[in-house]
Amino acid sequence: MPADSLRVSSPDGKIEVSFGLLDGVPYYSINRNDVEIILPSKLGFVFLKDAPLNAGLSIVESEQSSFEETWTQPWGEVESIRDHHNELRVQLSDGGADPRQLVIVFRVFDDGVGFRYEFPEQPNLGEFQIMDEQTEFAMSGDHQAWWIGAFQSNRYEYLYQNTPLSRLAKGGGSVHTPVTMQTAEGLYLSIHEAALVDYSSMTLKAEDNLVFKANLVPWSDGVLVKAQTPLKTPWRTLQIAENPGDLITSYLILNLNEPNVLGDVAWVKPGKYVGIWWGMHLGKWTWGSGPNHGATTQNTKAYLDFAAEHGFSGVLVEGWNLGWDGDWAAHGEQFDFTTPYPDFDLKGLADYAKGLGVKIIGHHETGAAVANYEAQMEEAFALYQSLGIDTVKTGYVGYGQGIARYDEQGNLVGMEWHHGQYMVEHHQNVIETAARYGIMINAHEPIKDTGLRRTYPNFLSREAARGQEYNAWDGAGGNPPDHVTILPFTRLLAGPMDYTPGILDLTFDDYRPNNQVNHTLAKELALYVIIYSPLQMAADLIENYANNPAFQFVLDVPVDWQETRVLHAQIGDFITTVRRARDGEEWFLGSITGENPRTLETTLDFLEPGVTYVAEIYSDGEGAHWQTNPYPLDIQEYLVDSTTLLRLDLAPGGGQAIRFAPASAEEEASLAPYPSVAP
Ligand code: NOJ
Repeated sequence: MPADSLRVSSPDGKIEVSFGLLDGVPYYSINRNDVEIILPSKLGFVFLKDAPLNAGLSIVESEQSSFEETWTQPWGEVESIRDHHNELRVQLSDGGADPRQLVIVFRVFDDGVGFRYEFPEQPNLGEFQIMDEQTEFAMSGDHQAWWIGAFQSNRYEYLYQNTPLSRLAKGGGSVHTPVTMQTAEGLYLSIHEAALVDYSSMTLKAEDNLVFKANLVPWSDGVLVKAQTPLKTPWRTLQIAENPGDLITSYLILNLNEPNVLGDVAWVKPGKYVGIWWGMHLGKWTWGSGPNHGATTQNTKAYLDFAAEHGFSGVLVEGWNLGWDGDWAAHGEQFDFTTPYPDFDLKGLADYAKGLGVKIIGHHETGAAVANYEAQMEEAFALYQSLGIDTVKTGYVGYGQGIARYDEQGNLVGMEWHHGQYMVEHHQNVIETAARYGIMINAHEPIKDTGLRRTYPNFLSREAARGQEYNAWDGAGGNPPDHVTILPFTRLLAGPMDYTPGILDLTFDDYRPNNQVNHTLAKELALYVIIYSPLQMAADLIENYANNPAFQFVLDVPVDWQETRVLHAQIGDFITTVRRARDGEEWFLGSITGENPRTLETTLDFLEPGVTYVAEIYSDGEGAHWQTNPYPLDIQEYLVDSTTLLRLDLAPGGGQAIRFAPASAEEEASLAPYPSVAP
């Protein structure tokens, strides 16, 4: 870096960002405790018509400021979040007779760095087209990386690979973010972005010399971003932690998003739901019409009754509307979002649900026919609102660069990616329209999460990774035991995921005898704590919950939290998370392992000192094994307090789930203390 570089440090002084110009080319670097994390890395842009802004620049002025605030999440994995950072704003100009301005802003937190570009309103730059964002992340070592490849057919739905960065460069491909890394010195890094609005998603191209370079998802005409000043790009984020668990409890991405713009969001409510869903994935039912149609009035009534009886807030119903017959994934333009199938009495069921105090969760599968959806969206949300349906699951099944875009006359203009600017704008349109109708959104095959839930709290959850459904599908191979031990450190750093846990019939022999969920029953329960989502499904067929003692945990576990802590963490191997319910004194623990069995220990010092709790422990039973014997489950109750040393014995592909509730006097008198563990 040039000797006269500008520098800004994190509030604790450990992380330092330097910014400077080398012969007019902008560079930044990042150190932590004087160890280089990001080596000098280029910044800048190339445009379609305008001259590039990547060289010949000079610093017009720079400014530093500090910020400290604690804000509250209306719902979330934690109630209050502290935003404490130092900021450096650098205003650059390319001089000359028609100078243009570019501002680069760095925010340095104790847990990482965010930076973005701003193109202020200015006489010599109005509408412009970005052909290259030259942002680099020059990594300081050949770190181990957990990644999925970008520009693939199935969007984000791939198993994570774990390779050194140098292997990635050899492949020559680009990876999605978040991409998470472990350095030889034992630091954990994750690159992602925050506040993706009016722009295109960033993927990272692995280049030689361990450099990741921004590779924005293009429009069909090759332009990366169609822009207009004033413009602020999304923040490029780097989370830095000494322990992988600290990546999970870093709220840097949320801190870089704008506060709630929806005003009073008391109508936005987390919830737990069942649904007419798994039956289709197992082949018990069909989405389309016919003798096995799932979304019938009768089936829906049964699910609504079940939900009411067990305290679920919602019932998802897929396949309720015209358009599912034939190859719906290839013909999304056939979807009609306001006309139910004749055997589905939408109005009657909405009334029936109201009477029970349960809500139907609406479903808009678009088959990635976005224009068809946009043409009906307003009416479709209005219909749902009139029926008291306030949560909608959207879906964009479609492959590769396969989203048709039309001009105003209805002529096909080009085929777009799920992650390009066209879809960023579409999802923005959906979330804003939904908000006007008091509707919450859970998007599948979505745009990636970049923390916009802070600004639009009705954006409850998304998929954007391989979820439970992969375990059901023939030929999909299922999710191997380590998949859910990687997600918390990668995909979930972006935000909540609708993984849809709660499959208690793990082998579903009646429907797909060759497939199964690749972990034990205790691990399936633990996912409710490990995988954060304010909207959690109890995904199994309701008949599989009858008389199953494991179901009690599914009923008890909350979806909204006061506090979250990660007690054990090793990416791809194991993780233990504890969360305290948003309302009340209860804590919940989830612990999971990959293929290997292991024993983990922890004290319970997160519990309120001096209070005795009942620990309801759901653990792997004798001989439990993810592949050959997934069902053995022990359920035991003991008295514990904050000094108890807990031992978690996890079977191969196993887990453990625990509810801690303050003990009543009766329980204190009748239950045994947790058996002490030899040190
Ligand atoms: C894929 C989604 O992930 C799944 O949840 C849904 O059931 C199907 N698409 C149909 O919309």
